[in-house]
Amino acid sequence: MSTTQTSTTQNVESAARLRCIACKATPDSAGKDFRCAACGDLLEFFFPGWISAPLISDAAALKALWLQRRTSREALDQSGVWRFRELLPHIPEEHAITLREGNTPLYHLPRCARATGVENLHAKHQGMNPTASFKDTGMTVAASSAHQGKFKWVACASTGNTSASMAAYAARGDMHSLVLIPDGKISWGKLSQALDYGALTCQLRTDFDGCVRILNELVRQKPVYLLNSVNPYRIEGQKTAAIELMEQLGWEPPDHIIVPGGNLGNSSAIGKALLEMRELKLISRLPKLSIIQAQGANPFYRSVREFGGKKLEPMTADTLATAIQIGNPASWKKALRVLQATGGEVEQVTEVEMAIAKAEIGADGIGCEPASAVTLAGLKKLRRSGFVKPGESVVLILTGHQLKDSDFTIKFHRGDLFAGKAQGSEAAEAKSLERAPIVLDANLSAVIAALDAAERNS
Ligand code: F0G
Repeated sequence: MSTTQTSTTQNVESAARLRCIACKATPDSAGKDFRCAACGDLLEFFFPGWISAPLISDAAALKALWLQRRTSREALDQSGVWRFRELLPHIPEEHAITLREGNTPLYHLPRCARATGVENLHAKHQGMNPTASFKDTGMTVAASSAHQGKFKWVACASTGNTSASMAAYAARGDMHSLVLIPDGKISWGKLSQALDYGALTCQLRTDFDGCVRILNELVRQKPVYLLNSVNPYRIEGQKTAAIELMEQLGWEPPDHIIVPGGNLGNSSAIGKALLEMRELKLISRLPKLSIIQAQGANPFYRSVREFGGKKLEPMTADTLATAIQIGNPASWKKALRVLQATGGEVEQVTEVEMAIAKAEIGADGIGCEPASAVTLAGLKKLRRSGFVKPGESVVLILTGHQLKDSDFTIKFHRGDLFAGKAQGSEAAEAKSLERAPIVLDANLSAVIAALDAAERNS
């Protein structure tokens, strides 16, 4: 197979420019904090060359090229991110660091479909990435850009998944990584990943938002490359989840896409991809992109519902879904823009609603981490409000793998998670999903009795 066009990221058509989302300044390069030097707001990439580009303006040719790459032996073609490189900023191939990220499955969820009354319900499982979360799709691009910039150190503040992903990509790219995480507020699985990939891991006595503040000061003083999602390369890579999803659906968009909202980079990225795909006529209509937050970490929900998106009031966040325990989301304005552009909705869910939804996703043989389960819990609310209709198609974006937070899962199934706090019908529903392990004497009749009892209750 000819790889002249397929094995390199070189592409003049994808010459990307930076633009401030607020004052629209178009700087030639970004500062260390990836904020606009003029007004301090976030930067994003745009692609002025697309308008006149023969390949990119030919939707059928692009789709065929991307499909053809799936048969390639080239590392970049095998990546579910770089396969779509025409829609990404150009990074020379020798700097591209890939773990063959992306390529994640789209599953039908029959049990959850019954629970929600939405028959056409699927999950795009971004937890099936190399470090088991969606972060890898953005990290491959942003870490490659650090490599291109010849940085020795990369750094992030994290609730655990970004740090795991960054540590892996830094190691693969022969760079050092500095992780700032809130002490005692991330899961063991995620902490263990950062250690295993060799990161310098600092557990700060603060929350995620406190870690972000320290990191922003640090990057001004030290030559470290910032890999949080304010880095627009992260957003570009994360766009590919939506592109891959549309390809999996035969370029027929679903009616709804539902994502969890924390720092709000992922919703911004998926929304950006949808808008760009429509502009390039890769899809003919926009799905509604809805964002779900945990009730204890709901600054964006409150911003939209209480202030019409005019301002965001930071808060102290508190939720068992540690991944999204974020009180001052950096990308809220980007997320607001895509929410409005796609006509999506914002919702919040309680801890019990999230835990029930997580057990239901598990019972469909899929599983996910707690933060991802807010999508299903949110869908139930959007059904009740009539925003999602029974005949419509819905895709939930599951952001992290089930094994990321096994403590949560075990506590739920042992009935310890809410220990007496869940009330009424919610408590009964949670109870019906619990599957606590049974400790038995090591004899056959005890096991047969357990099996018979389970059979009677099934
Ligand atoms: N789901 C999971 C599993 C996450 O780890 C995160 C964010 C989100 C959802 C929310 O995505 O921030 O783009 O809105 N985790 C970050 C981290 C903050 O540090 O790992 P978002």
